[in-house]
Amino acid sequence: MIYGIGTDICDVRRIRASVERHGERFAQKILSDVEFATWTARSARWPERGIRYLATRFSAKEAFSKAIGLGMRLPMSWRLCEVGKLASGKPCIVLHGGLKTWFESQGLSAHVSVTDETDYAASFCVVEKI
Ligand SMILES: CC(C)(COP(=O)(O)OP(=O)(O)OC[C@H]1O[C@@H](n2cnc3c(N)ncnc32)[C@H](O)[C@@H]1OP(=O)(O)O)[C@@H](O)C(=O)NCCC(=O)NCCS
Repeated sequence: MIYGIGTDICDVRRIRASVERHGERFAQKILSDVEFATWTARSARWPERGIRYLATRFSAKEAFSKAIGLGMRLPMSWRLCEVGKLASGKPCIVLHGGLKTWFESQGLSAHVSVTDETDYAASFCVVEKI
């Protein structure tokens, strides 16, 4: 059964401006430890790839927060919601800490899709009750 759906569009230029203003502190606030390591490696090779990575993660987490019906309210928080990647390249939601505990206790499962173009990143998330 569908529990909730969520969507989000993120302006890549806003993310770029935040990174320029706050540096890696902004990325650290949004990304899990694993994502932050990926972001650091991508940014080192090509800064724009880092910005796009951050923008798609930002939009996927907001879409997930809407699909679970909480928005950015505890137990939802940026760093506890990770966007992982399966061997096929398909993104998946990997949760941590209190968010993982809450999500599993509700018997929920998530599906996420992300996309980006020059100035925007967008995501769609479906949460199922198993
Ligand atoms: C959900 C949230 C992350 C979206 O914020 P945003 O990126 O600034 O805004 P977006 O344009 O992407 O999305 C806004 C839409 O999210 C939806 N939304 C808001 N709260 C939601 C929730 N708890 N669950 C699902 N969807 C929600 C609404 O449809 C809203 O549109 P509306 O303002 O026209 O009603 C943010 O509103 C949030 O964290 N809300 C929870 C905390 C909160 O309510 N704070 C304010 C207290 S007064």
